[in-house]
Amino acid sequence: MCMASLTLTNVKKVYDNQVTAVHDFNLEIADKEFIVLVGPSGCGKSTTLRMIAGLEDISSGELKIGDRVVNNVEPKDRDIAMVFQSYALYPHMTVYENMAFALKLRKVPKEEIDRRVKEAAEILDITQYLQRKPKALSGGQRQRVAIGRAIVREPQVFLMDEPLSNLDAKLRNQMRAEIIKLRQRIDTTFIYVTHDQTEAMTLGDRIVIMKDGYIQQVGTPQEVFDHPINTFVAGFIGTPQMNFFNAKLEKSGDTYHAICGGASIQLPQQVQEKLKANGAVSQDIVLGIRPEHIVFVSDDQKANTLTGTVDVSEMMGSEIYIHVEGNMGGANTSNIVMRVPTSDLPTEFHGGVPHGTKLRFEFPGHLVHLFDSETERNLI
Ligand SMILES: Nc1ncnc2c1ncn2[C@@H]1O[C@H](COP(=O)(O)OP(=O)(O)OP(=O)(O)O)[C@@H](O)[C@H]1O
Ligand SMILES: [Mg+2]
Repeated sequence: MCMASLTLTNVKKVYDNQVTAVHDFNLEIADKEFIVLVGPSGCGKSTTLRMIAGLEDISSGELKIGDRVVNNVEPKDRDIAMVFQSYALYPHMTVYENMAFALKLRKVPKEEIDRRVKEAAEILDITQYLQRKPKALSGGQRQRVAIGRAIVREPQVFLMDEPLSNLDAKLRNQMRAEIIKLRQRIDTTFIYVTHDQTEAMTLGDRIVIMKDGYIQQVGTPQEVFDHPINTFVAGFIGTPQMNFFNAKLEKSGDTYHAICGGASIQLPQQVQEKLKANGAVSQDIVLGIRPEHIVFVSDDQKANTLTGTVDVSEMMGSEIYIHVEGNMGGANTSNIVMRVPTSDLPTEFHGGVPHGTKLRFEFPGHLVHLFDSETERNLI
């Protein structure tokens, strides 16, 4: 029994034009794990995937599948199937023939092909389209066929490069749920590329966040959300994006405070201990807080709160995104985004909070993120 774990060690890709698309990529992927590579356009996601598939040479470093080094193994001998963004179906073949094609080439017996195609069609709910040509299918149905074509090969490793990005938002959400189901039904290692952080968060056992050819952070969705390693990851994961402010970390005696917009924010014991262990000193920081973590304060007299004026609000249905011009101390104003469950607001605000509304709020100490203002790395 082959184990489809993968190990990438110091993997690097330099293209012929001297562009280094991937620097020193190190990752161990467990058998049957669902890994998502995510990051902005050009960060090296597809290049990494194509090296795993064998469609691009590895410039240096080592790729293992199970215990076998496969740097020089032909793509067809890697026991990998890849689904691309463009489905690339054969237009003159029926859905059945499209799905059977790769197996025919491999001289798989007819009955076996039939069994696999019908089983895959069942999983993907496309049985009723098996005799149609691709042009008589919707985008979502075509994408299912493309996935079906990969499933029938029963690969050890399933690679997907932005398979949903050609679909409209509604279909994409639907197909995302389908991929979760698919994953439950076929026991394979998945490596999935996307630039959509929602897809990454909902699909991945672990997420690999990349930027400029470098891995920034690897972790479970919860880990990267709760403990982003730097401001890039913090801003990339979560919608709307985390708010960032120039602030100060102040150490007085043995106690640390964050000073942001004139408010002194008490930091919890755990954070105090970590700062102390890391030898943190009074310094400039970037303070981050997610839009859903800002808390409204009704008591006008409460100390260490901040105030602001509503600019616009976006009614999203069950939630409202409120854009606030905040008075962040002195002459500094700052655009702050807050995300509030509609049901938490008085009924008169359910259609949106009017421009000019005054708000008082605070940043709870256990929910703020503290980053070094120079290195942009998390201080905790
Ligand atoms: N064949 C190639 N020759 C030269 N440079 C390339 C080639 N393919 C990609 N690159 C460059 O390598 C870098 C990484 O590209 P890659 O396609 O891996 O990015 P990506 O993360 O998949 O981006 P996207 O989200 O836009 O698909 C980019 O700077 C790109 O211009
Ligand atoms: Mg790409």
